[in-house]
Amino acid sequence: MVEVIDSQIFSINKNAKVSEKYIGKSNNKLVIVDNFFLFPNQVRDYALSCKYVKEGEHSNPGYIHRTGVNLFHFLDFTRWIKETYYQDYRVNYSAPIFSFQAYDTIGRVLPHIDEVNYAGLCCLNTDEEVLGNITGTSFYQYKTGEEYSQQYSYRNNILYNSDQKDWNKYHTEYHQYNRFIFYESCLFHSAYWDESKWDSETPRLTFNTFTW
Ligand SMILES: [Fe+2]
Repeated sequence: MVEVIDSQIFSINKNAKVSEKYIGKSNNKLVIVDNFFLFPNQVRDYALSCKYVKEGEHSNPGYIHRTGVNLFHFLDFTRWIKETYYQDYRVNYSAPIFSFQAYDTIGRVLPHIDEVNYAGLCCLNTDEEVLGNITGTSFYQYKTGEEYSQQYSYRNNILYNSDQKDWNKYHTEYHQYNRFIFYESCLFHSAYWDESKWDSETPRLTFNTFTW
């Protein structure tokens, strides 16, 4: 017997509030979508019911469940954001990744870039769990002033050879339940989580998009 779910639980709220924010010296744009999922509680329940794996080939500190459910629905949405807010009209069909991520510990994370053009994530922890700005996404300047790099380039060598002291955190976008944050993944960034203040048994839980 298989457990069947209604794929409509992943519907995006068509009336979600979208806003833009500029951060850092380079005026890097974040697009923030409040009330992203129409049925966030069902999405959270689904994410908590999934099986997760530890992927060894990258430095993600948590566990990942990759999902193909409603792939084009999410891809249409991220394409709309990149065209509308970033004036980027390139096709984005190439190998998108939609996943849930769960962290039960974070360890030491250095800033990184993702090898796609855009990253997005929606917090699936409740208001109560995230209270006190204890989880988010942080953005960094390298010691020479750069706030972003270029994917698939020698320019990324600084990432492999750097140390925490080489980085200045200039912004943390704190997470809120059912808020989707979208950014250029060439921005130096990392997950932020003050694990010591986390009271909940629930892991740090997000829905993540990696798209072109
Ligand atoms: Fe990332």
